[in-house]
Amino acid sequence: MHHPIRIAPSILAADFGRLEHEIRSVEAAGADLIHVDVMDGHFVPNITLGPVVVEGIRPTTRLELDVHLMIENPWDYLEPFAKAGADSITVHVEACPDPADTLDKIHALGKRAGIVMSPPTPVESVEPFLDLVERVLVMSVNPGFGGQSFLPEVLDKTRALARWREERGLSYDIEIDGGIKETNSREVAAAGAETLVAGSAVFGGKDYAARIDAIRSAAEQGRT
Ligand code: DX5
Ligand code: ZN
Repeated sequence: MHHPIRIAPSILAADFGRLEHEIRSVEAAGADLIHVDVMDGHFVPNITLGPVVVEGIRPTTRLELDVHLMIENPWDYLEPFAKAGADSITVHVEACPDPADTLDKIHALGKRAGIVMSPPTPVESVEPFLDLVERVLVMSVNPGFGGQSFLPEVLDKTRALARWREERGLSYDIEIDGGIKETNSREVAAAGAETLVAGSAVFGGKDYAARIDAIRSAAEQGRT
């Protein structure tokens, strides 16, 4: 099965004083989806944004708003984020007492559902839910902050997810998030990831199109 490489700029690294401009700029620069990092100061030691911000940015782009919930009690916030205009909602397996129920609720709200695990959490923790998701996200840094260094040990999880997808005839998207840049995107794509989140590697430069193109073409080389 062919899974094209897709680049998801994380707005965590954008200039929040001109978020609309930043989102329009990365869309024009070739972004495939917009990654939205939600942090609550409990599940992770940082606070970012809530449904009002998703609602505010919704009209600025036609791209998928890929909402990554790094929060406790995600169940309580699914409906607000869905109503605000999220297209997909990804929840941490560590934060869900009943992941299957949580994923069902995301679907009941008409959204695509994803599951994610932090670096210390084994890939087997998401295995029971693979036929219930449109996306599995592999964290390649400990969640909480942008600009951290990529942890290469998570590539084994990516390989396992790619193998399970193939063996079981499933079609979930394999996304990777944290420390992704031009210099490691080839190996993450070779390990099986096709959706690459990049915060600082995109917004840290002036020419967003050049940054996105460089990450995409390095990743495409990992596929050949
Ligand atoms: C980390 C977030 C990431 C982060 C990535 O908790 O989930 O999406 O924004 O930022 P970079 O690409 O700078 O590591
Ligand atoms: Zn994220």
